[in-house]
Amino acid sequence: MSVTDLLAQLAPIGLTAGGGYRRFTWTPEYAGLRQWFLYQAEARQLQVVKDANANLWAYMGDPEGAEIVAVGSHLDSVPDGGAFDGPLGIASAFAALDLLAQRGLRPQRPIAVVAFTEEEGARFGVACLGSRLLAGAIDPERARALTDAKGVSLKEAMLEAGEDPSRLGADPSLLARLDTYVELHIEQGRGLIDLGQPVAIGSEIWPHGRWRIDFPGTADHAGTTRMRDRDDPMARFAATVVRVFDAAQSDSTRATFGRIEVTPNSTNAIPSLVTAWLDARAATDGALESVVASAGSDVTMTAESVTRRVEFDPDLRDRLAGLLGGVPQLPTAAGHDAGVLSEAGVSSAMLFVRNPTGVSHSPAEHANAEDCIAGTESLARVLTDLGGFH
Ligand code: GLV
Ligand code: MN
Ligand code: MN
Repeated sequence: MSVTDLLAQLAPIGLTAGGGYRRFTWTPEYAGLRQWFLYQAEARQLQVVKDANANLWAYMGDPEGAEIVAVGSHLDSVPDGGAFDGPLGIASAFAALDLLAQRGLRPQRPIAVVAFTEEEGARFGVACLGSRLLAGAIDPERARALTDAKGVSLKEAMLEAGEDPSRLGADPSLLARLDTYVELHIEQGRGLIDLGQPVAIGSEIWPHGRWRIDFPGTADHAGTTRMRDRDDPMARFAATVVRVFDAAQSDSTRATFGRIEVTPNSTNAIPSLVTAWLDARAATDGALESVVASAGSDVTMTAESVTRRVEFDPDLRDRLAGLLGGVPQLPTAAGHDAGVLSEAGVSSAMLFVRNPTGVSHSPAEHANAEDCIAGTESLARVLTDLGGFH
C-alpha cells in the first residue's frame, strides 16, 4: 500500500473542527491509532510485541533475534498538530516494507516497525517518554506519577486504557538487540524548501529541554488592592518572559512559553500562583544553559526533560548518504525518539521529508504526495541495505 493511502486511513482519527489533530496518549483516539497499527502488522503477517513500556513493535523475522533493524516514529500529536509529525514515519515504514515485498525481497535480519508512546509529551509533559523509559533515561516511578492537565496520572491512564503500568522501565535486553533505528520524519522547518530537495538525512539534534517555573504570589481582590500593595506572580512571570526572550534572540537559540497555568484563574482575582513551562533549544549545550539561566536565580525551576546535543552516528550517516546519492544533511532543533535511542547507544539515523509550508506543530504542516513517495523509496533503499534484503 502507498504511504499516502496509509495516511489517508488515519486522517479522520483525532481530527478537530479547526483542521488540527488531538491524538493524546491513552485516549480513545490513541486506541484507534494503535488499532490501525495492529491491523497493518496483521495484514503484512508481522508479529506484534508490546514492550514493557507499551511501545508497539511489528516484527518481520524473529522478535527475540539479535541485530534488529527498527524503523518507525510515533502516533501521538501535540494539541492541534498536523497529520504528518509521527504518523509519516510509521506509514512510510509499512509502505517501504510493501515496496520490498513487491520486489520479492526478504530480510536477513529481524526488521521491526515501531510506534513509540507519548513522543510529544502532550499529555504527561515529558517528551519521548516511551523511548526514555526503554532507555532507562527516566525513573519509572516518576513516569507513573506524571499527571495530565486534569490530574490523571500516567499509571491511572494506562490502567484505564487496559495497559500494565507496573512493567514500565529500562529494557536493556531489547536495547542490546537493537542494531539500528531509522526514523523518517516530516521536516519541521524550511531547510529542504531552500535546498529544493525532497529528502534529507538528519545530522544532529540541538540540545533542548522543558523547564517548569513556579511563580508563587498572594491572592487578593482585583479591585480593592492597590497596585503597589500587590504580590502578583503574573508580573514576575511577564518580566521573566521578556528577559528569556531577550536572551534567546540569536538565530541559534529558541525560547517558547507555550503553556501556562494560573491559579485560581479568575478574572477578578490576583493569582496565588502562575506556573509556566519554558521550552528552550540552542545549537550548543552552553547556549542552552545561558538561555535557561536568563530566567533568573530567584525563580523556582524544575527541569522536566533535558536532552543534550545528539550527533547522529557519522558512519551510519555516510552509509545513508552513499545509498541515497548524496542527499543533503540537515540539523534539527526538534526532539525525536531517534535522539534518545542514539544517546542510549543505538546507532540511529533520521530522514526528513520536505514540508512545503515549513510549519509544524500546527494544522498547516504538510507534505506533498510525491515527496512522501520519495521518502518511502529512500527508506526502502536504506532498509534493503541495513536489513540485508535480497
Ligand atoms: C517534538 O516534537 C519537539 O517538541 O521537539
Ligand atoms: Mn512533534
Ligand atoms: Mn515527531
